[in-house]
Amino acid sequence: MIGAKIIQFATLDSTNNYVAKQLLAGTYEPGVVILAHFQTEGRGRRGKFWQSSSGENLTFSFALDTDFLPAHQNFILAKAVSVGIYAFLESILNAEIRIKWPNDMLVSGRKIAGILIESKWVKGHKKTIVGIGLNINQTHFPEYVKATSIALELGQKIRMNGLLQKLLNALNAEISLMHKDRFTLIENRYIERLYGTDSWVNFHSQSRNFKGQIRAVDQEGVLLVKSKSGGAVNYRSNEVRISY
Ligand code: BTN
Repeated sequence: MIGAKIIQFATLDSTNNYVAKQLLAGTYEPGVVILAHFQTEGRGRRGKFWQSSSGENLTFSFALDTDFLPAHQNFILAKAVSVGIYAFLESILNAEIRIKWPNDMLVSGRKIAGILIESKWVKGHKKTIVGIGLNINQTHFPEYVKATSIALELGQKIRMNGLLQKLLNALNAEISLMHKDRFTLIENRYIERLYGTDSWVNFHSQSRNFKGQIRAVDQEGVLLVKSKSGGAVNYRSNEVRISY
């Protein structure tokens, strides 16, 4: 179970880095959550920096044994984690919540959480690190990040006590479905909650910008987009970006 033990640090470079080092050293205990109140080098997807003000948000990581997941089904974990965060957000907010492919969380059209999933081979076993940054009480963000937080959505700050446990319960519920092979249920929940399936949204690839609608996301995370001008094209997460 994730979060059977939670270890908190005032400052770390990055909770994902910390878990990776423990895995490589053979000292990571399964299910342990590593949380930092501040990260000096918090990392986002695509080599970006994850900025989060000290003590106001949740920034944490854990690792799972993922030998049971073949490479072509890897993305089910990203789907389960996104759906778990969605369930947590839904339990406290009365606002429009969407998952933005591959696994960002949007509330009222602004980003509230990001997920960084990284796999490592340790002594012949596949381990997957899941890092989550969720904005809770931060109310000022640089405008270019188009972010929000629970406090901004509720109009007031919220007590952090108990929030992590509530989020971990929601994540455990989805991840346990994955362990029980209930992939289809997770897949259906993910696609139902996905931004850009029922309206035309803006996509940016290296060669063009276009309006499209998401038709499917397969088990490797490959996106199938129908463009307004005609055909349907597949994209991997490093090939296209969706604006919001
Ligand atoms: C993204 O949206 O690009 C992903 C952001 C992931 C940020 C979290 S914060 C905790 C964990 N540690 C990191 O260095 N990154 C992840």
